[in-house]
Parts: sequence; C-alpha cells; structure tokens
Amino acid sequence: MSEGELFELELLGGNTERRFRKMRPEVEAMPWGTLDISKAREEDLIAARLAWTSAAYQEHRTGVACALTLRALIEARAPLDLIAVASRFPLDEMVHVELCARMAMELGGGTEIVHDPKAMVLDPDPKQSALMQAAECVVRFFCVGEAISIPLLRATWHVAEHPLPRAVLGRIVKDEAAHGVFGFTFLDWALPLMSDSDKQVLGAAADLAIRFLYGQWDYTRQNRRTPKHEGDILGWMRTDEYLALAQRSMQSAVIDPLEQRGIPIAAQLSEFTARYPTP
Ligand SMILES: [Fe+2]
Ligand SMILES: [Fe+2]
Repeated sequence: MSEGELFELELLGGNTERRFRKMRPEVEAMPWGTLDISKAREEDLIAARLAWTSAAYQEHRTGVACALTLRALIEARAPLDLIAVASRFPLDEMVHVELCARMAMELGGGTEIVHDPKAMVLDPDPKQSALMQAAECVVRFFCVGEAISIPLLRATWHVAEHPLPRAVLGRIVKDEAAHGVFGFTFLDWALPLMSDSDKQVLGAAADLAIRFLYGQWDYTRQNRRTPKHEGDILGWMRTDEYLALAQRSMQSAVIDPLEQRGIPIAAQLSEFTARYPTP
C-alpha cells in the first residue's frame, strides 16, 4: 500500500456547512460530548478509535459504490422514481461517514488508514449493456453489501448502551433499511428484461461480493474481540455473535432472495463454514 493516500476528511464550513446541516439536522442534535472516556482502559480506547475509523472508511467506500450505481442507473434509463430514490443514498453515506468519524474523534481521534482512492470499488464490466452494468452494481453493492449490513447494524444498535452511539447507529440503521430494500426493488423491475445468461452473469457478480465478505469474516474470526467487560467503551457485538448473525443473514437476506429471483449463487454459505469445521 506504499502508493496509498491517508484517509483524512475535512468540512468546508461557512454557507456550505450550513446548507448541509439544514439537509440533515439530526446530526447536530445528537448528544455529542457526553461520552466519559476518563475511566476507559487505554487498549479499549485504541480499539474503539480503530473500529469507528474503519467504520467511517467503510461508509466512505459505500458512498463511492452508491455514486457509481447511481450513474449506471441513469445511463440505463431506469425508472425515474427509482433513480430519484437512489439519488439520496450518496448523501446518506456522507452523513454516515461524518457520524463515524466524529465518534472516533469523541474517543480521542481517528486512527491511520492508508487507501488507494482509485481502487475502492470494482467498476462494472464495460463490455456489458448499460442495463446490465446497472444491475451488476445493484447486485454487488445493494443486494449483497447493503442487504447484509441491515441486520448486523440493527443488532449492533441494540447492544449499544450509551445515548451517543445509540443515536449514531440508530440513524445509520434507519437510512440503511431503505438502501437494503432498494436492490430487490430494482431487480423486480429489471429481471423481466433479462435472459437466463444475463442472470448467470449477475449470479457471478453476487458470488464475487459474497466471497469478499467471507474473506472479511475470516479476518474478523482471526482478530476476535474479547468478551464485553465492565467499562468496554466500544460496546459492539462479540465476534461469535456477530459471525453467527452474519451467516444467518447471508442466507436469509442475500442468498435466498437472489435465488428466489432466479439468480444462481455458487458462493453458498457452506463454502465459508467448511473452512471452520465445528470441533
Ligand atoms: Fe451507510
Ligand atoms: Fe448504505
């Protein structure tokens, strides 16, 4: 990653920030400055700063994915109302970026993330039609990525105890619910226009996104979070609970609804579970 750039953010301020605040007043209304970190253990603080900074980066990456999908939807002349609904998503993601970044600041500051801004998400296959490019984006980013994040975020929100992370996660959960539904609404419009071989192509796109998540879960499994203890400042789910819910959700929120729509999935859950045989 020597070619990478630091993941750093800024606000322009002035009129621009005022307009932004007017668009999403709930951000300023959150109970900022109420987290007491004076008794937190140093290692917990570092872990929490890292977790929220990574979350900010993930939201930033999702912003790119939403913007790319939006462009493809417009080029494909998807129904106007469908495009209009999706046009809100990049803004939602920018709000999520700010919320997560501010959480890291509340805990003492962001941690260093180096990234390649030109390689954050994979572009759709340029040889495909405009409609298929839009469908590929929607399947990878929405029917897989956003659809699985909803139950996971909701569960993380449920275990959050302090009002500030509860407000932040609650806002994100509210927005993401619309993002997760969107993918399948698009497919229900687009699939009647597609052939069986188109559906195979979309299945392969879904496989790619699903296997990417299996790879992330491998990392999570190898870097387990210690059980929640007294004074745990992050307060997210434990690794085992998270992974169990992630696997159930992959089946019910991603694989089942795609297969029900005739999109064949090769990256079945057994591919991941087979790597970790239960003793
Ligand atoms: Fe988001
Ligand atoms: Fe989202």
